[in-house]
Amino acid sequence: MTPKRVCIIGGSGKLGLYMVQHALDRGCEVVAVCRAQSVAKLDKFRDRITIHPGATDDRAVIEQAVKGCDGVLTVLVPWGVHGYATGTAQAVLDYAEPHARLIFSCGWHISLDGKDVYSWQLRLFVRVFGWLARALRFADLDDQIEACRRIFTSDRRWTVVRGSNLEEGDSEGLPLWSHHVGDPILARNLTRRVDFALFMVNALEDDSLVRTAPAIVGCK
Ligand SMILES: NC(=O)c1ccc[n+]([C@@H]2O[C@H](COP(=O)([O-])OP(=O)(O)OC[C@H]3O[C@@H](n4cnc5c(N)ncnc54)[C@H](OP(=O)(O)O)[C@@H]3O)[C@@H](O)[C@H]2O)c1
Repeated sequence: MTPKRVCIIGGSGKLGLYMVQHALDRGCEVVAVCRAQSVAKLDKFRDRITIHPGATDDRAVIEQAVKGCDGVLTVLVPWGVHGYATGTAQAVLDYAEPHARLIFSCGWHISLDGKDVYSWQLRLFVRVFGWLARALRFADLDDQIEACRRIFTSDRRWTVVRGSNLEEGDSEGLPLWSHHVGDPILARNLTRRVDFALFMVNALEDDSLVRTAPAIVGCK
């Protein structure tokens, strides 16, 4: 069943804007959370959505925004070194309605069961980028790992959608997915961002994805 009211946390980002459009296309009532300085990025939707300005790890903002929502789409981002992604995830887990479908975004580097098989390039990138980002206090990949650990151990109706490398461009259709990175179906390692958003919104209605972490890739 299509959720009637959907909250999009991180609605002003590139992925978030596509999710707002997909959710409106499905006739959902949309509530978006985004940083105060980014509200203008949602201007083209302004008369059709409700906006809650604030940091996406602000528990009071999240508590208000998710009230009455049957679905919550969350862009998990590990900015800074103070547990931003973990704060976001925990607030959603704590305050979303008990019946709500909770869909979170992250990358292939997150593993649900340790059975993913990663290329040396991806392992090297995560190690080098992770070290550099933390050294510069720009981002903390361990924060996103901790956020997902909390989601994976919760008894909520969650799905963690793991994105491949992303590119802009017109939709190619609903991405393909697998439970594990390393599956030949994922060899292309590239997804249109608009289709990542489509998969997130589609997951709201797909109960077979409850408590799974699909790794996705473009369908072409
Ligand atoms: N980029 C990739 O290649 C890639 C690959 C796989 C998976 N993913 C996943 O896809 C999702 C979206 O990532 P994206 O790269 O496409 O970016 P995005 O959609 O533009 O999202 C970035 C988000 O971070 C917020 N943000 C930016 N700077 C911030 C700061 N200093 N403090 C707090 N929030 C800040 C943005 O909000 P504002 O609008 O307020 O700036 C926006 O909501 C993430 O979950 C990511 O892990 C990305």
